Amino acid sequence: MKPGTDVEVREVGLRDGLQGIATFFPTELKKQWVAAEAAAGVPEIEVCSFVPPKVSGQFVDCQEVIAAALQVPDLVVSALVPNLKGAERGFANGVHKMNFVLSVSESHNQANVRCSREDSLERFRQIAQLRDSTPENRKVQLGVGLSTALGCTIEGNVDPADAVWLAEELVKAGADEIAVADTVGYANPAQVRAMFKLMRENLGDAVTLASHFHDTRGLGLANVSAAIEEGVRHFDASLAGLGGCPFAPGATGNIVMDDLVFMLEAMGLKTGVDLEALLEVREIVHRGLPQERLYGAIAKAGLPKGFAGAAPAVQAAE
Ligand code: COA
Ligand code: ZN
Repeated sequence: MKPGTDVEVREVGLRDGLQGIATFFPTELKKQWVAAEAAAGVPEIEVCSFVPPKVSGQFVDCQEVIAAALQVPDLVVSALVPNLKGAERGFANGVHKMNFVLSVSESHNQANVRCSREDSLERFRQIAQLRDSTPENRKVQLGVGLSTALGCTIEGNVDPADAVWLAEELVKAGADEIAVADTVGYANPAQVRAMFKLMRENLGDAVTLASHFHDTRGLGLANVSAAIEEGVRHFDASLAGLGGCPFAPGATGNIVMDDLVFMLEAMGLKTGVDLEALLEVREIVHRGLPQERLYGAIAKAGLPKGFAGAAPAVQAAE
């Protein structure tokens, strides 16, 4: 966590947002997006996905985008990896952090990464071994996105005990962060609280817990609020709410980064993000995807009169 902040937000629009969109987002604009959002104060950006080009054509320029992102001061540059080959590409490109993906629902894991959950666990163990056995890789953080942890479009309800089992195995193998993902937007705040409580009870304090919510059924920010109540301080979101899993039919975007930052700051939690500067970055997303619908309540309605964010704007007079 950056000094002076209470919470950490991670931009996932360049990965989750773009992966399902057929229109190629121009490389130059990706670089501008990363630089501008980092300059607005967002501490971590997931800049691409190391999947084969046949899975998504959006990431054929990952090498160039990563090289540019690594030049941005103080930015944690992360990327999604679905398997060992993806992780090898991540290490070779020098990302600071990799986010491995694994679904709690067996059917979704088969659809998304074409193997069983046990095989995905084994892949993660190999990635962690590769990290730990190579001195220059040891500084790379390993996160895991636990997809469909709160519901699945194929199987419906998902057993929380399965999420805990997988999380425990992943932490044992070397995961630094577990992101509970509501990939398909089924979750409600009571369920979110119960899930994070269970995770914390079983995983202890050694691992960072994060949330990855989609706003498919309108409960994304309510779910963040529930996660906050359980002590979660790391949140994924995408600028203007881009996003959706290609194997989660009907799944819409991630929660809107700009609205998330507004909510956190309004609740008194310092994000380190300059909201006005963040809102301006939407213009870059619009230029890259002129046909795409951009979401966001604050962009539409504006900030409340007198809104000053979590930190007091003026030092109180002595
Ligand atoms: N990067 C680049 N190439 C890769 C790769 C990777 N991460 N993983 C596999 N490949 C290549 C293999 O080398 C092989 O190439 P070849 O045909 O030239 O020999 C080919 O792809 C098939 O390899 P295989 O291991 O059989 O992969 P697969 O076809 O079973 O696909 C995944 C497995 C995991 C790569 C694929 O299902 C995937 O990318 N899933 C992620 C989907 C996603 O992005 N979902 C949204 C995120 S939640
Ligand atoms: Zn997602």
